[in-house]
Amino acid sequence: MNAAVLAVGAKLDRYEVLTKLASGGMATVYVARVQGLAGFERLVAVKVLHPSYAHETEFVNMLLDEARLAARIRHPNVVPTLGVSGSETELAGFFIVMEYVEGDSLAGLLSNAHKQVGKLPAPVSLRIVLDALAALGSAHALCDESGKLLNLVHRDVSPHNIIVGSDGLARLTDFGIAKAEDRLTQTREGQIKGKLAYMAPEQAIGMKTDARSDLFAMGVILWECVTGRRLFRGETATATLHKLLRAQIAPPSTYDAALAPLDGLLERALARAPEARFPSAEAFARAIEDVAPQVGGVAAARVVARSVRQCSGSKLAHERALLESARRALQPQAAGLDQSDAADGVSGTISLPAAAAPVERAEVAAAAVPAQRGLPHAAAASGFFVSPAQPRTDTRARRKTPASAFSPSSRREAWPRRLTHLLLVAALAASAFYVSFRQARSVAEAPAAATGQVTPGLGSEASAPQPSDARPAVRSSPDRR
Ligand SMILES: Nc1ncnc2c1ncn2[C@@H]1O[C@H](COP(=O)(O)OP(=O)(O)OP(=O)(O)O)[C@@H](O)[C@H]1O
Ligand SMILES: [Mg+2]
Repeated sequence: MNAAVLAVGAKLDRYEVLTKLASGGMATVYVARVQGLAGFERLVAVKVLHPSYAHETEFVNMLLDEARLAARIRHPNVVPTLGVSGSETELAGFFIVMEYVEGDSLAGLLSNAHKQVGKLPAPVSLRIVLDALAALGSAHALCDESGKLLNLVHRDVSPHNIIVGSDGLARLTDFGIAKAEDRLTQTREGQIKGKLAYMAPEQAIGMKTDARSDLFAMGVILWECVTGRRLFRGETATATLHKLLRAQIAPPSTYDAALAPLDGLLERALARAPEARFPSAEAFARAIEDVAPQVGGVAAARVVARSVRQCSGSKLAHERALLESARRALQPQAAGLDQSDAADGVSGTISLPAAAAPVERAEVAAAAVPAQRGLPHAAAASGFFVSPAQPRTDTRARRKTPASAFSPSSRREAWPRRLTHLLLVAALAASAFYVSFRQARSVAEAPAAATGQVTPGLGSEASAPQPSDARPAVRSSPDRR
């Protein structure tokens, strides 16, 4: 069962949820922010374990292991893990906080490239694979505090777990099912994890894995990137497994003769016997660099960045719009609050200008209070990130920043509202005066009608022509006939 989606503004420790990114097999990923002084904002990706797994000790331990291991790897091509936290609320159990990478997963990029331009240019594919190999190289070489090799194996290397940033850097993530020899918890024996279509044969049949298993997965990724096709994916898991273990692997030149220089190294990378593969990520990378000039070279990061913009530009724009919308929805919430209220986050005294209509106050209160407590904003819960009642921004401007509040533009904005209020007040006063005037007249006329006398004080009014009296006079005018 997947998690209920956390609403915009929901708090996970000191992180404020801005938008949901995606949901994977084990967790849901959100973009959240942490704010500091002077408008400082840092975006993070928060991976929240699905509630159904939150009580499963094995999964929780797996997540904690992921965080501990990943936090030890410091490399520009690894998504930095910033921490792990747990809350006992039903909404969010355990979660991992990572640096947010603006970009797209390699899976997303390949799929978009397939739809738009067929496939990524070979030099771009080589750059991405070299980046991921650099990340794997550093993970495989990870040692503990005493300098002992941890023999870390990622075991889930796939295009989903490589994020290609809008900066053109590819980064490896998700050491969730990684396995160090002396890890604290062991995964269930024989349990096949990771994505079958990228799994090394020895891993798929439950045998011992090592760094070379990850390199097999990188071989599959390189083959798919340069050909624009899927290598082992079958209709069913059984069909995929069958292909992975038995099917003949076509060299890339089968599909594009220009890729012939890559045939040899891919044959080695995809060898079913681990000992026939490259012994290390570095050896694999060197083999790529050796033949790269024959297929157009290795693209610079800025060229990869251009491909990301071309293929996944709309995904990036959509994500930016969601973030911007969430920021706008959250921004005004402290606007009408006294600083003390905003700080303790419990109750809010909404400060509005005296002339504000009651409905405006109600809107502000409804929008502000849940957000302070980290509760789902009604609009956000329904999936819309709306910017609540704009006038609150004006309110703060008037209260907190007098200089800008009395700027010509804010006076211009206030004018139509003031005029409307003046007209309303004038209309109310006029009707009140008219009603009391009519009452006074009927009181005065009643005794006069009874006695047949005209009250002296009202005589002039009684004799003055009323609008209804005037009409027949006009109608009887000879000029009108
Ligand atoms: N640090 C991050 N920055 C930006 N986007 C991220 C980050 N981490 C994950 N994502 C995005 O969230 C998506 C979902 O990630 P998640 O790891 O939960 O699922 P998955 O990789 O698709 O599948 P699996 O559950 O098998 O790992 C990723 O594909 C990626 O697009
Ligand atoms: Mg993942």
